[in-house]
Amino acid sequence: MPSNVIVGLQWGDEGKGKITDLLSKNSDYVIRYQGGNNSGHSIHVKNRYFVLHLIPSGVIYPNVTCIVGAGVVIDPKSFIQEIKNLESIGIDVSKVFIEHRAHITMPYHLLIDQYREESLGKKAIGTTHRGIGPTYEDKIARIGIRALDLLDKKNLYKKIQYNVHLNNALITKIYKKPPLSFEEIYHEYEEYANLLYKRIIDSIYRIHRAFQEKKNLLFEGAQAMLLDINYGTYPYVTPSSTTTGGVCTGSGIPPNFLENFIGISKAYCTRVGNGPFPTEIFNQNVNNHIQKKGNEYGSTTQRIRRCGWLDLVALKYSCMINGINCLIVTKLDILSGLNVLKICVKYKIHHKIFKNFPSDMQGKKIECIFLEFPGWKEDISFIKEYDHLPKNCKNYVEYIEKYLQLKIVLISVGSERNQNIIKNNQLFNKIFS
Ligand code: IMP
Repeated sequence: MPSNVIVGLQWGDEGKGKITDLLSKNSDYVIRYQGGNNSGHSIHVKNRYFVLHLIPSGVIYPNVTCIVGAGVVIDPKSFIQEIKNLESIGIDVSKVFIEHRAHITMPYHLLIDQYREESLGKKAIGTTHRGIGPTYEDKIARIGIRALDLLDKKNLYKKIQYNVHLNNALITKIYKKPPLSFEEIYHEYEEYANLLYKRIIDSIYRIHRAFQEKKNLLFEGAQAMLLDINYGTYPYVTPSSTTTGGVCTGSGIPPNFLENFIGISKAYCTRVGNGPFPTEIFNQNVNNHIQKKGNEYGSTTQRIRRCGWLDLVALKYSCMINGINCLIVTKLDILSGLNVLKICVKYKIHHKIFKNFPSDMQGKKIECIFLEFPGWKEDISFIKEYDHLPKNCKNYVEYIEKYLQLKIVLISVGSERNQNIIKNNQLFNKIFS
């Protein structure tokens, strides 16, 4: 069976949750490899709607083992709450595990994230305030607390003591805020350790064995390519490797395990938080149309998402870095009713034309060179056959394929599981069945 990886190709919120859900059904393992509870997958099960931030959405299928990998940072409070929510609707959570090597988010991480953002003023990243950056910083500084530390209380005590001492200096001296109590934090985390210890495992051999046994593995990314710490719009990025390259480092597998590199792009663009967004739409009517119809509000922070036209310069760069061989376009139905659609095909920076995505966008005035496409009026959300789409809609889709030199496999036209149009049957059957 193939190993599939799903990544978002823009700035997040491309609708990965729905596609992960479609693929999870036939998966034996769903493995998260980066990010933390900054991401959010909305799920609707048994007439209840809630958001999963850390637990892979594959959890709703009893056949799936879910692993939160080494590249993820885990806020135990949030994780335990998700477990409780799932249990409350009768979902079996006995096969949800945390890798030993994953790092743990601590209360001082949340505060430092918030204080730093406040101190940056207009230059703030616009983070989710979930402590993600500071948790990864401690990981890289080699003072972080790992999931396996929760299994050894003596060690946990010493590590928390050292870290609280260090972080209190930052909190009181730099940010001029009150210090945290080491004892309180230790007792809180001792309780989390008691609740989580059975789930904390060395998952590496298990994942490798599953691969040897030809089990179906799905690696689920969070955030997206243009928020990647190395290749995104730095410094307005998330502090993890969101690319398909991140799968290997974040879950302990070699690149040759991976077969299908599934990239998800909206039919337009959105971005939450600050930072460059070349195709951002400032026309209020068009912006409102996309925001309202597309329900473009962050599922983690409830912030309004900024909306923009489809950016093919950025998308081509994303497909290239991620080695995408299966492209899925989502939310095409949201564009119905707009008279004219625009697609960005080149950038103009300081009077020069670029087809490549720049390594630095800060302080640069980026003008977009757009192609205009006539829109379509029809509601396409119940169409099942590609040939039944309006002609203008097909022109829009086919231009994307031509520019990217990549076949679109599936088009999502609504949030329900069955609101999809298969565009490439052969590839669809290879990956989804
Ligand atoms: P952080 O990941 O909380 O440090 O935030 C860094 C940037 O990534 C901010 O612009 C956030 O809005 C953005 N971000 C983080 N997680 C997501 C996500 O799941 N979807 C979209 N944007 C995200």
